[in-house]
Amino acid sequence: MTNLLKGKAGLVTAAGSGIGRASAVALANAGAKVMVSDISEEGGQETVNIIKENGGEAQFFKCDVSDEEQVKALVDETVTVFGKLDFAHNNAGINAGQVKIGEMDANDWDKTMKINLYGTFYSVKHQVNAMLQSGGGSIVNTASGAGLEGSPNMTPYTASKHGIVGLTKSVALEYGKQNIRINAIAPGATITPAIEGWAKNHPEQYNGVLESLPAGEMSTPEDQGNVVMFLCSDLARQISGVTIPVDGGYTAGKLQQ
Ligand SMILES: NC(=O)c1ccc[n+]([C@@H]2O[C@H](COP(=O)([O-])OP(=O)(O)OC[C@H]3O[C@@H](n4cnc5c(N)ncnc54)[C@H](O)[C@@H]3O)[C@@H](O)[C@H]2O)c1
Repeated sequence: MTNLLKGKAGLVTAAGSGIGRASAVALANAGAKVMVSDISEEGGQETVNIIKENGGEAQFFKCDVSDEEQVKALVDETVTVFGKLDFAHNNAGINAGQVKIGEMDANDWDKTMKINLYGTFYSVKHQVNAMLQSGGGSIVNTASGAGLEGSPNMTPYTASKHGIVGLTKSVALEYGKQNIRINAIAPGATITPAIEGWAKNHPEQYNGVLESLPAGEMSTPEDQGNVVMFLCSDLARQISGVTIPVDGGYTAGKLQQ
């Protein structure tokens, strides 16, 4: 436990697993009250239990970020329960339609945009309005390395994550004078439960990925959560409008063979 976020309150979306869970735990470990949100009640409740076992304060609120009414309800509930919204981590994202664009099903395109880009739009819209009521705050969006460079066979995901990077820059300019900061993290390959399962079943492919990484290892959800926690804290008071790669140097350039 640190006291970096003592007295602060906020929310994390898609906090029932992986990066969102680690972020919620890191925020709570820093002293914040956290509204844990996810479409999965089971995953979300497990995150709340972890936070409480650590001595922190958290509650669960079910929310599908692709539905603006549910997103507004999540923000309203956080303000009702904790009295204000100091920070938010908009983390929900999916990667549907993993084919070339010529074979793309428009439904996969729509589904990805609806959760990744519209979900972030709905979230940021209602969060800035809540933060304006209490003198400002800090928002962190989850982009991706695929928000900074192209990724074949992941066009809707890549386009949505580039959109999040642009949204983050524009909103930083719109609300900077009202004491609202907004940034994004761009995780590189991060070992979440899904990737762990894939690595066990495809050890050769997994080792190939490790070789392509400058750090020689994937990041952990905790690596991502710690950066979110820092960005939500006053230590980051001069950081706004940026997307921080959390990828051990992967997007810095090509590794020499
Ligand atoms: N894991 C990686 O390597 C990696 C790399 C770059 C970016 N990211 C991004 O990080 C974020 C989290 O990824 P992860 O790997 O931790 O995922 P994960 O699969 O471990 O967890 C995703 C969570 O999102 C929830 N969710 C799914 N759809 C939702 C919706 N519509 N509304 C609310 N919650 C929803 C799920 O229930 C689940 O709990 C995503 O935005 C993803 O694009 C992950």
